[in-house]
Amino acid sequence: MTVEIWWGRTADARPGLVAELNAAERDRMAAYARDEDKSRFVVGATIVRRVLAGKLGRSPADVVIDRTCPDCGRQHGKVVADGMQISVSHSGDRIVVAFHPVAAVGVDVELINPSIDTASLATVSLSDLEADELAAFPADARARAFTQYWTRKEAVVKATGDGIAADLRKVVVSAPDQPAALREWAGYDGPVRLVDLPAGVEYAAALAMLSDEDLEVRSFDAAPLLRS
Ligand SMILES: CC(C)(COP(=O)(O)OP(=O)(O)OC[C@H]1O[C@@H](n2cnc3c(N)ncnc32)[C@H](O)[C@@H]1OP(=O)(O)O)[C@@H](O)C(=O)NCCC(=O)NCCS
Ligand SMILES: [Zn+2]
Repeated sequence: MTVEIWWGRTADARPGLVAELNAAERDRMAAYARDEDKSRFVVGATIVRRVLAGKLGRSPADVVIDRTCPDCGRQHGKVVADGMQISVSHSGDRIVVAFHPVAAVGVDVELINPSIDTASLATVSLSDLEADELAAFPADARARAFTQYWTRKEAVVKATGDGIAADLRKVVVSAPDQPAALREWAGYDGPVRLVDLPAGVEYAAALAMLSDEDLEVRSFDAAPLLRS
């Protein structure tokens, strides 16, 4: 099973892209106070629309996208489109979108902040086992290690659709110096494939696919897609 991964940057954002968005997406953009948030959102939404437009043979503005949140009904939930499973993530100047025709996918990218307090973050998002493993990393490697745990966990809970409703301490993943895997999570007992995505030294990223088929990843640069 091949998951398509499309990478964009905030610098790919242009005012003209907004014309392809639907009313809910324009409202989302307008609600962001910071330009960088607007850019991250419009690049993610446009990658979704333009990649699907290419696959469906229609124009990006005609692609039907729904983000209804199952908890509150607002348009800030997981992206849903006919015939494709999709996951979107953005952090810093990176935007990533994963596509698979059948299997649910979850993707997460995070800018690594070298000055985070990993010990206190561990108490709210890592299991005791993971926190012990993290503490064994050299101090200057802990920010990256913590962020790898985080992106692996987020990829899983985004694939299942739980998102922030999940208690990340219970989503136990493999240690950052081991191949990515879900070790244990009572909230989901189906098959899952997990892999780290190369995202450069400043970022950590991971992809989850809810299937026991082999996971193959094909990565694309979204810049040419967003240029026209
Ligand atoms: C996904 C989530 C974990 C956020 O993660 P994050 O690290 O802050 O942000 P990311 O950039 O990695 O991911 C954001 C994307 O996740 C997607 N997403 C939102 N809810 C999701 C969910 N439950 N499951 C999977 N994906 C979800 C959206 O596509 C969103 O991007 P978009 O709005 O630009 O389309 C999340 O659950 C969340 O914060 N959702 C926001 C909505 C909210 O506040 N819900 C509360 C319930 S009312
Ligand atoms: Zn909501």
